[in-house]
Amino acid sequence: MKTVLKLLADLLARLAVLPAVGLYWLEAVLVGKDRALRFWSELFSLAPGTPGAYLRRAFYRCVLDECGRDCWFGFGVLVHSAKARIGKNVYIGPYCSLGAVALEDDVLLSTGVSVINGPRQHGLARLDVPIREQPGQWTPVRIGPDTWIGERAVVMADVGAHCVVGAGAVVTRPIPDGAVAVGVPARVIRYRNRSESAGAETQAPPAQPSAGETRLPAAPEGNSSSG
Ligand SMILES: CC(C)(COP(=O)(O)OP(=O)(O)OC[C@H]1O[C@@H](n2cnc3c(N)ncnc32)[C@H](O)[C@@H]1OP(=O)(O)O)[C@@H](O)C(=O)NCCC(=O)NCCS
Repeated sequence: MKTVLKLLADLLARLAVLPAVGLYWLEAVLVGKDRALRFWSELFSLAPGTPGAYLRRAFYRCVLDECGRDCWFGFGVLVHSAKARIGKNVYIGPYCSLGAVALEDDVLLSTGVSVINGPRQHGLARLDVPIREQPGQWTPVRIGPDTWIGERAVVMADVGAHCVVGAGAVVTRPIPDGAVAVGVPARVIRYRNRSESAGAETQAPPAQPSAGETRLPAAPEGNSSSG
């Protein structure tokens, strides 16, 4: 019965967002996808409760590059790029902010997490040109499957599979699979399937090229992505 009601709610949400999706695509042709997304992302972020979450999911499933069926977008969530990729069963808590990033299956983002495209959206080299006018770099950022990001963390580098990032952490370097990382900047304090602390290995090991443009570090021995 619950499943049927959920399917019905999903269907109703899809019908309700159809006009918005149509207008979005029209606007996207004129001004580009990301500019068009701004208005609709902000508007849908204000819809409260479970109906709001259903509306957001229905909308994002139509406009993002990828958006899994059972994901959840909490109140106040802003998605700034249509290139964002959201896997299956992803939970995005209230007031999260996402750039052109990839969240793999079963990722959990607690309240107020920001996942941004690296640390250098603006260049810093010149003093005679305002920072806002200096070209920067947009780095793809990926959070691996089954990773939990704590409240108000800022993620600007890849995080591996089965990781935990502590509340308030700032991830500036890739975090390897299975790691628990806390603090500013985020340091690995232990691995989930090891009893000992990470000790001196508080910095992520050297990154290795992975598929696409993202770079994920090698998993430490005995910490494969299967956990
Ligand atoms: C990271 C976390 C899961 C704890 O992991 P843990 O491996 O059990 O770590 P411990 O509690 O044993 O703490 C180990 C050390 O890290 C420190 N630490 C733990 N969490 C920390 C955090 N978020 N920031 C900074 N330091 C932290 C502890 O103070 C402790 O330091 P000490 O050894 O100097 O005493 C937890 O603290 C956390 O941040 N959870 C997120 C909670 C959240 O955001 N919930 C939102 C609702 S879903």
